[in-house]
Amino acid sequence: MGEKKHAVITGGAQGLGYSSAESLISDGWNVSLIDLNTEKLRQSAAALDCEYSTVDITDVEAVNNFFLQLPRLDALINNAGIWKPQRLDAISITDQKLVIDVNIFGTLHCVKAALKLLQSSPSSSIVNLSSLAAMTNSPNLGLYAASKSAIETLTRQWALELAPIRVNAVGPGLILTEGTSENYKGQAREMREKAIPVGRVGEPNDVADVVSFLVSDAASYVNGQIIYIDGGLSAGTPQR
Ligand SMILES: NC(=O)c1ccc[n+]([C@@H]2O[C@H](COP(=O)([O-])OP(=O)(O)OC[C@H]3O[C@@H](n4cnc5c(N)ncnc54)[C@H](O)[C@@H]3O)[C@@H](O)[C@H]2O)c1
Repeated sequence: MGEKKHAVITGGAQGLGYSSAESLISDGWNVSLIDLNTEKLRQSAAALDCEYSTVDITDVEAVNNFFLQLPRLDALINNAGIWKPQRLDAISITDQKLVIDVNIFGTLHCVKAALKLLQSSPSSSIVNLSSLAAMTNSPNLGLYAASKSAIETLTRQWALELAPIRVNAVGPGLILTEGTSENYKGQAREMREKAIPVGRVGEPNDVADVVSFLVSDAASYVNGQIIYIDGGLSAGTPQR
């Protein structure tokens, strides 16, 4: 891995994880992608010419084995996340347990397994993926928004617990990815665009650019922060 800094991105096969990998690689980082979607992972790693490994972050042993074989780690991007929007009267406990398992325990497994490597780096950081949903209290989200509130709490807690490793989170708003494309079909996109102060839906690189900044030396005094990347939506909705 040479002198280059090394980042691991969970859920890196597509969407925001893939875009963050692109951005870090163009900043000169070595990147390893992990994901449970092997086929997509293989294609994405080939396109980016980077390392990859099939790892389900809910599988603690697989996560430990992955981090054990890494020679160096300077940044961990806890990006893998899932959502199962459901009304409370029709909620599936099994589905919502999986949301907690991936979004909270998956993140915990990765941080715990990566800790020794991050502590050995002269300057390391963690970026967690929260969501605008953690602060906007939308209906029918099952435990997704609650899982991201937990991520925000853990981000601040770990910033204290793990210093000098910096721990920050990004909270994307409405970003068009493979995972969210269903939400932007037909008129839905236009309606959403009208609600967003900057007048457009976000693109993955809007988030990736901020992730790149947060792991860089330019952010060496940024710690314990949640940065929303939402085109201003958390400030309100413009009247149009
Ligand atoms: N796109 C948005 O608008 C948006 C908004 C707010 C927050 N987020 C958060 O950003 C992150 C990425 O979102 P996205 O839109 O790119 O999602 P996506 O569904 O397009 O991609 C998520 C990736 O995570 C992988 N993954 C899922 N479970 C996994 C597991 N157990 N182990 C390993 N990999 C797993 C998937 O295979 C997929 O490749 C998520 O944490 C999501 O909650 C996204």
